[in-house]
Amino acid sequence: MARCRRERADGLGGWHGRGSLLRSMPGTLAPEVVEPLLRGRFGNPYLFAERCESTQRALTDDLPEGAVAVCDEQTAGRGRRGRTWLAPAGTSVLCSLLLRPPAAREPAQLALVGGLAGARVVERATGRAAALKWPNDVLVDGHKVAGILAEARGEAVILGVGINVSQSAAELPSGTRTPAASLVTLGASSERASVLVDLLASLEELYDRWRDEGLAPVRDELAARDALRGRSVRIGAVAGIAAGIEPDGRLAVDTRSGRVIVAGGEASVA
Ligand code: BTN
Repeated sequence: MARCRRERADGLGGWHGRGSLLRSMPGTLAPEVVEPLLRGRFGNPYLFAERCESTQRALTDDLPEGAVAVCDEQTAGRGRRGRTWLAPAGTSVLCSLLLRPPAAREPAQLALVGGLAGARVVERATGRAAALKWPNDVLVDGHKVAGILAEARGEAVILGVGINVSQSAAELPSGTRTPAASLVTLGASSERASVLVDLLASLEELYDRWRDEGLAPVRDELAARDALRGRSVRIGAVAGIAAGIEPDGRLAVDTRSGRVIVAGGEASVA
């Protein structure tokens, strides 16, 4: 089966698959550059647009698990909790992956799976330890390099990943609660295609294990990468000391009135 389909004919104007006439620019994530590097199921089909509203909106229900949408620039990039995700054109890996998790698994755990994949990729690219700020921000030295957005669509999940690659310090968002960094500001290379290919391979490896065995195989890695453990945190009305990620992916917080297990939300660190 061909790895990638042409997508322009079916109403996704501006989206390109294999065989598109798109001309490669240096550093492009166009299919003719990325597609030959892909080895697994994720990225098949591979949908690419130079510019789109949000890759989260590009994957239609008829596509199979593993379909990926990528673009160079988003005009309405979405972050968690209704925020926007902004990046100058051509500076980031911006992608969304269509997943069809089995009913036996808790889909909310996919945020952690995506976060771990992002952390592995950032760590390999920078040679620096990457941590996970529960549930899914990827940090290096307390700076956010990547964010994950897991959105349910019926029984499917659209897992969006944004990795800051080549932004200069001046191009990164400022005034955010967690300061931002890119691979380049961390001293790494700005090769987006290899970052994307590594990300899709890491997502596939971690997703397949999670689908078969849940979070158990990555429990130690989650603990090792946990940026919140021992820190004073507030998540909604819950305030206390983060006490680690539970086997089911929720966060334990030791409050004055005892241990509380938090299922989701935004953790601010005191
Ligand atoms: C966050 O940290 O708030 C999550 C950010 C997720 C951003 C990615 S970029 C690719 C995909 N498309 C979007 O519009 N958002 C996600």
